[in-house]
Amino acid sequence: MKVDGRHFRSIWLEPDGWSVGAIDQRRLPHEFIVAKLTTADEAGEAIRSMLVRGAPLIGATAAYGVALAMRADASDAALERAGRMLLATRPTAVNLKWAVDEMQRALAPLAASARAEAAYARAREIADEDVEINREIGRHGLGLIETIAAIKKPGEVVNVLTHCNAGWLATVDWGTATSPIYQAHDRGIPVHVWVDETRPRNQGASLTAWELGHHGVPHTVIPDNTGGHLMQHRMVDLAIVGTDRVAANGDVCNKIGTYLKALAAHDNSVPFYVALPSPTIDFSIDDGVRQIPIEQRAADEVTHLTGRAADGRIETVRVVPDGSSVANFGFDVTPARLVTGLITERGVLKPERAALANAFPERSTV
Ligand code: MRU
Repeated sequence: MKVDGRHFRSIWLEPDGWSVGAIDQRRLPHEFIVAKLTTADEAGEAIRSMLVRGAPLIGATAAYGVALAMRADASDAALERAGRMLLATRPTAVNLKWAVDEMQRALAPLAASARAEAAYARAREIADEDVEINREIGRHGLGLIETIAAIKKPGEVVNVLTHCNAGWLATVDWGTATSPIYQAHDRGIPVHVWVDETRPRNQGASLTAWELGHHGVPHTVIPDNTGGHLMQHRMVDLAIVGTDRVAANGDVCNKIGTYLKALAAHDNSVPFYVALPSPTIDFSIDDGVRQIPIEQRAADEVTHLTGRAADGRIETVRVVPDGSSVANFGFDVTPARLVTGLITERGVLKPERAALANAFPERSTV
């Protein structure tokens, strides 16, 4: 997508042909800074520190991380070590494991001398495939927005609520939840997005609002607890969120707070859609609520807030009394029964095992 007239992806191979560029998402929306990753350890640290984040981007970064590892040492031991190190960075988004598995499957049979080149080629492919998948997600999701737009009165807009950032920054390009929104906006359909701020790290307020603003999409940032009120008052036509892992039974894991939005949507008959690329499906898990590992993050994300002061300085301030204990669960799981549909690259599916297995037979273990 464009940033000040220049096209960017969230991650790319630098012109030197081996180092990897990525937008430092910890600095947005205040500063647009590009980071350079030159080793597998730096790629791992970029994921751990959330310089890059969002399930598909975590997967693409891990793929490039394996390529960087192979450039330094293409032995079997190094391939295994890089995979283990990358898998230990964040536990919830299954795209990480998918990407590491893909890389290891492609590279393990090769002679060490052929691995580095093959690793870069597969990592590039994974990144390019993500862009195409997200474009297709947008095409299928666009149909849902068009259907709602068709029954609106002249001058009315389609109001979409989203949570966290499942935008182009969270993927390689387009985003998952945002792809239908961008495609609708680009076709002249009037859309407006309610952007949940998404405490504690504020990916909605910092990243989704930044993206939508740069693309000219009308949007309003709301405190996390506002969605239910908006839905009660018919101010939300549909919700579209992303996901870090979908279990084979259609349960959806996404940023903490997603479940509460799904409950409010259900109570108010607001359609609740989840947009996902197929690498986000975990066919090895049949009960998302019980089996998906939920990341718990550092307390300071809850106790402190970071922002830009009036004089331009970036400041971090404490907002919780000293001594109060805090909990910081990164994700929650929305049961499939609360999900209206899964927007995938192969169409809008029912959140059910059979629908997922039929659409992706090559990945399903049924
Ligand atoms: O902790 P984050 O910022 O990596 O969490 C991101 C999300 O929860 C996204 O909604 C999800 O990864 C889908 S991204 C297309």
